[in-house]
Amino acid sequence: MDNIERSGILLAGISHAYSGRKALDNVSLALPLGQSMALLGPNGAGKSTLLNILCGLVKPDKGNAYLAGVDISRHSDIARRQMGVVFQDDSLDDRLSAWENLEFHGLVYGMDRKSRARRIDEVLELVELTEWAENPVRSFSGGMKRRLEIARALMHEPKILILDEPTVGLDAQTRAKIWSYLNQQRRDHALTVFVTTHYIEEAESCDLICVIDKGIIQATDSPSALKSRFGKGIVRCLPRDSETRRRLLAKWPAAQQLADDRLGITIESKAMLDDLLIEFGAALKEIQIDEPSLETVFLAITGKEMREREEINPKGRAKRNKRI
Ligand SMILES: Nc1ncnc2c1ncn2[C@@H]1O[C@H](COP(=O)(O)OP(=O)(O)OP(=O)(O)O)[C@@H](O)[C@H]1O
Ligand SMILES: [Mg+2]
Repeated sequence: MDNIERSGILLAGISHAYSGRKALDNVSLALPLGQSMALLGPNGAGKSTLLNILCGLVKPDKGNAYLAGVDISRHSDIARRQMGVVFQDDSLDDRLSAWENLEFHGLVYGMDRKSRARRIDEVLELVELTEWAENPVRSFSGGMKRRLEIARALMHEPKILILDEPTVGLDAQTRAKIWSYLNQQRRDHALTVFVTTHYIEEAESCDLICVIDKGIIQATDSPSALKSRFGKGIVRCLPRDSETRRRLLAKWPAAQQLADDRLGITIESKAMLDDLLIEFGAALKEIQIDEPSLETVFLAITGKEMREREEINPKGRAKRNKRI
């Protein structure tokens, strides 16, 4: 019980299937209050399903989920007040102004007039949208909308912030800004942050990283511990012809098939790298040697590249913004 109360988020044996197809399989994890965790996984790994369960939008087939010690399925209203959520899909009302979106949120959460007014000023200032308060959201850029979504999630002063790919499709400068707001809140209010992202540098700044694939948690640890556990270097190479590819795969059958016909071969030792370069160096069109990093950790665990995911993400924000 102590364990539950001290946790920002606690999941115990969560399983969920859509029409018989498993999306989450016996997922357990703990995020202590005041800490941050990045949930990483390829498309379809189950990240949004997990977040939707945390928000009480999807009821799991099995298992228990607690937010700040509150059982989500039994007391969803109390749990909801503890958390602010930024969903993967935009959910602002774009006919309303920034101020009206925040005011409406405050009303739904039962905030009185005085605290609504104070908090709207604070959160707009935090995300640098004060001057835009009266403008309709439909006139906002993708980055401004994401910032407003974050402001809205923080409006009722939650203990826990849950964000599903909050920065996808945004330029590096806007992403950095969004993280500076989040880090400021973490520092000043001991906010617990649970975020899915596929930008490795964002995951790197979190206290904990959880890698999920095919609905199963593959590893949870601090970035540095994951690197020392899985962080081997990788050779990414493009064989000159099919015969070279065949010989490489015969020698290193565990090589990963990467995007653009390249192969990824884990560097087990310096001798193995020398061997590869001497035997195959001249038969490779391209070669890149990656030092151990979170990127190589992700590749070692899931067999997929983080970068590849950005290109193929079918629900990318860049696409969504074009729809407006
Ligand atoms: N509402 C739904 N109905 C049926 N199947 C679903 C539904 N939502 C998700 N799924 C399936 O469950 C699995 C997990 O999907 P989920 O959206 O949780 O993955 P994700 O890790 O968030 O992926 P992405 O990186 O693309 O956002 C996928 O196979 C997906 O097709
Ligand atoms: Mg998702």
